Amino acid sequence: MKHLISVLPILFIFSFARAQDISKTTNVFNEEGKLQMLIVYNPACHCRTYTEFYPDGKVYAKRTFIVTDKGEFIDGEDLTYHPDGSIKIYKLWKNAFPEGRAYSTFENGKTEYEEFYKDKLKVGTWRYFNEAGELTKEKLYDGTHNAWNSKKDSYTLKTYKGGKLNFTETFTAGSLTKSDRKEATITLVHNPVSNISDGKKLFDLKCKACHSMDKDGYGPALKDVALRRTNSWLFQMIVDGNKLLASGDKEAVLLFEKYGGKKHLSNENLTKQQVQSIIDYLKKPQ
Ligand code: HEC
Repeated sequence: MKHLISVLPILFIFSFARAQDISKTTNVFNEEGKLQMLIVYNPACHCRTYTEFYPDGKVYAKRTFIVTDKGEFIDGEDLTYHPDGSIKIYKLWKNAFPEGRAYSTFENGKTEYEEFYKDKLKVGTWRYFNEAGELTKEKLYDGTHNAWNSKKDSYTLKTYKGGKLNFTETFTAGSLTKSDRKEATITLVHNPVSNISDGKKLFDLKCKACHSMDKDGYGPALKDVALRRTNSWLFQMIVDGNKLLASGDKEAVLLFEKYGGKKHLSNENLTKQQVQSIIDYLKKPQ
């Protein structure tokens, strides 16, 4: 019995391979027995076409690979479809490199983006739209620098709002090197802090995006703030600076004016102990 079990898989692989040789077609089924993928080998082009299906049997994607003794390389049209049969993503491959116009459409039929490739490079103006069909972004490639698969591109990015140019930025090897954006956007990473009691850690997570110790940035430098302000003022400022401002507190109003009307974020989710540990951290000589 033991012997038979160990032989069975080999027999199975053998018969499976034979079946493939004859029919050149492989069906892949999901757990429920539905066709998930159909693989058809065409000897005329030495290529294999992979067709993937939605659970209801409609075609989800179709792409072709040239079969060589070194492996398979994608070639020709690479298509993904919406459930209604319209094209979702289109890309053309020539010997494993994208060529010409690639695009994606929203389910409502409007273009989501279009991108261009030539001679293994990203070229031309890549455009991005919202579902209403408004242009939201343009990436301008000079057509000489960026490899088709580069992750660190050099290009000019134009960002549009309501159909009008909002700001222009230059990226060099993946980094922002020039911007005429009026105000930097601050992205705060959402980090659950409920278990943290260490003042420095809390500061790094909740405050560092806008405050440094020794330089004014989006918010004021906080190096000697604990000398300038009382503990209770700091407490109110950190927990709900807006309330302090609304109460007409002179210092809060001055700061609000000096910093161009930026309102302070509320930190009401921090416990009293957590706020105090941040203040204690601010009191330490830096
Ligand atoms: C989104 C940016 C932003 C974040 C995050 C932020 N602050 Fe501020 N903070 C400001 C700005 C802007 C001001 C000045 C304008 C104002 O008060 O509204 C300020 C003012 C302050 C002041 C008053 C400074 C002075 O000179 O009196 C203190 C103290 C302060 N922040 C502490 C903190 C602490 C502690 C945290 C983290 C729990 C924090 N802030 C998080 C932007 C921020």
